[in-house]
Amino acid sequence: MIILGIDTSCDDTSAAVVLRGEQILSSVVSSQTDIHNKYGGIVPELASRRHIEMIWPVVDEALSAANIYIDAVNAIAVCYGPGLIGSLLVGCGFAKAVGYARNIPLVAVNHLEGHIFSAFLEKDKPEFPFISLIASGGHTSLYIVEAIGQYKELGRTRDDASGEAYDKVSKLLRLGYPGGPVIDRLAQQGDAGAFDFPRAWLPESFDFSFSGLKTAVKLVVEKDAAMLENPSFLADVAASFQAAVVDVLVRKVESAIIKTGIRTVVLSGGVASNSGLRTRIRDMADERQVKVFLSSPSLCTDNAAMIAAAGYHHYIAGDTAALDLNPRAYLPL
Ligand code: KG4
Ligand code: ZN
Repeated sequence: MIILGIDTSCDDTSAAVVLRGEQILSSVVSSQTDIHNKYGGIVPELASRRHIEMIWPVVDEALSAANIYIDAVNAIAVCYGPGLIGSLLVGCGFAKAVGYARNIPLVAVNHLEGHIFSAFLEKDKPEFPFISLIASGGHTSLYIVEAIGQYKELGRTRDDASGEAYDKVSKLLRLGYPGGPVIDRLAQQGDAGAFDFPRAWLPESFDFSFSGLKTAVKLVVEKDAAMLENPSFLADVAASFQAAVVDVLVRKVESAIIKTGIRTVVLSGGVASNSGLRTRIRDMADERQVKVFLSSPSLCTDNAAMIAAAGYHHYIAGDTAALDLNPRAYLPL
């Protein structure tokens, strides 16, 4: 069973060929960071235009790298939301056209479900039920995953997503887009205790909030803009900011373990590739004797293999999409 996955939900054009929902035959991600970097964030119109240029070459490369022709594909799994509507339209339009032309069934996949399924592309697979933290540029949410297709949301961010906070802080520090990788690197050289940034605990809730943290960083930076030229200041701000984000993410996952009694945790989304978060969550899991599953960093960030992995399960359950499939910018899991 071969699934071609396609994801154009945000700023990466990606296609992948996945066997039986678990073995990656190819995975191609064409990044757009060169276009958006100078704006300090994604410019939706530019993202759509680049998707249009890249979708066919990226799919073609994924098929070639997997050494197959399109007719060997059993189903095309395409991400139809949530995301930027102009970007989603490109992937959905392309998938529908190819599916129609070659008579290949179409499967519609929620991007968040894709992030959860990235864990099933690794050798060691989680067992149900598990706690899932999706921490990305667009989302920061905690779920109980009872089984395939059974997701119960415990909490979500009330304002910025954690990755968005990284990107905004990076812009404040003039470090470019995306902010996560560069702040992660800088944080390793800084003092996490240098600044006492706020943690929004939101007690009695599994919700998150990161906008106050971003404002706190802004106030520190605005006090003396000349400090932005000082590498040790930048490293200290990065380390202190990262400590605040990681503290909250790890504590909420820990509370979910205590409250639900579930002993397996899966982390996904771009922020799950953060080195500080990976270390801290593993330490917490060791202490509490729970199993933690962290996808490799390239599967944490957006990719189409995760869409194909989730799509495989829909396809074998007979859950295919019609040609009137429309993408949705807002699409809860
Ligand atoms: O999952 P993803 O590729 O796209 C969305 O679905 O949003 O996540 C992208 C986000 C960006 O905000 C980026 O800054 C963040 O993930 N990110 C990181 C790291 N790598 C990527 N955040 C923290 N540490 C990282 N190492
Ligand atoms: Zn994503």
